[in-house]
Amino acid sequence: MSTASAVTPERIMQLGLGFFASKTLLSAIELDLFTELANGSLSAAELTKRLNLHQRSALDFLDALVSLGMLDRKGDRYQNTDETGQFLVRTSPAYIGGVLEMANERLYPFWGSLTEGLRTGAPQNEAKTGGPGLFETLYSDPKRLCLFLSAMTGLSFGAARAIAQKFPWKDYKTVVDVGGAQGGLLVQLCLAHSHLRGTNFDLPMVGPIFDEYAGTNGLSDRLKFQSGNFFEGPLPSADVITMGHILHDWNLDEKRMLIDKAYKALPEGGALIVFEALIDDERRTNTFGFLMSLNMLIETPGGFDYTGKDCSEWMRAAGFRETRVEHLLGPDSMVVGIK
Ligand SMILES: C[S@@+](CC[C@H](N)C(=O)[O-])C[C@H]1O[C@@H](n2cnc3c(N)ncnc32)[C@H](O)[C@@H]1O
Repeated sequence: MSTASAVTPERIMQLGLGFFASKTLLSAIELDLFTELANGSLSAAELTKRLNLHQRSALDFLDALVSLGMLDRKGDRYQNTDETGQFLVRTSPAYIGGVLEMANERLYPFWGSLTEGLRTGAPQNEAKTGGPGLFETLYSDPKRLCLFLSAMTGLSFGAARAIAQKFPWKDYKTVVDVGGAQGGLLVQLCLAHSHLRGTNFDLPMVGPIFDEYAGTNGLSDRLKFQSGNFFEGPLPSADVITMGHILHDWNLDEKRMLIDKAYKALPEGGALIVFEALIDDERRTNTFGFLMSLNMLIETPGGFDYTGKDCSEWMRAAGFRETRVEHLLGPDSMVVGIK
């Protein structure tokens, strides 16, 4: 038998129809299935009733989730797996469903016109029909704003903990997180390093949600909010400036402008930490980074993701004397620039 005949279309089909599985999970989250199972197992009949499902596909839906590893079934009773119990139960502190709820509500329909975006280079979200930009849309509805900000905390949780461990915080006293959202990074940094004080520099609407989250974590005395717009005026000064999932939202000139502003706001010896799903320098392996970049096409007029090498070059051009790239967790890495 030749090697060619061992080639099968399985991977192509799996990928091509991958949205079947993806949407099954997103609907389970939308229906709050995992939260319903927070207190123990339920039968198919009980779940059908609680989730208000039609009988026709209820069993197939639940068993599809079993086969996808998102539910366990013992006898005729369904329960959460260790993963879904921890990350998809709404009341769990590690809940990451917020980002998936938003993916279900907005991105799933918008990605349907990816081909048009690839042809035109234009965003495919609300902006396409004359609506406002990404942040204006998210921030126009208080419920959506809360969902987005807590979704960012969930999405950045692992990277935040890794940054708390991997960067030599003992050498620095103050940190400004530019676009720090709910405060996911600052809270992890201050919980891990009792000498640190932090400021979140973000749009005014974010303030009350940040203050509440800092308070819940017992950090109101060491964390403060500074309202501002990073396109207007300088950034606040601190020993360390962090930017998580910020640069990929903007075009190249805007990226460079933000790095320049960070350089100007740092003292000699200060550090800029940029983190997100950096594309690998060879541009081959970090699939999540590439897909996130396509998501920037869908969501923004000029945003794109980039490699650690790209970011290091922009930092050097801004004046940083030393740069290094370090892997954090999963698809996330950080670029550190020292002034
Ligand atoms: C994608 S979120 C990143 C949140 C957080 N850094 C993280 O990694 O989880 C982008 C953040 O930038 C903030 N932002 C957007 N435009 C801004 C502006 N012009 N000035 C200040 N903050 C802005 C948003 O409010 C939001 O908190």
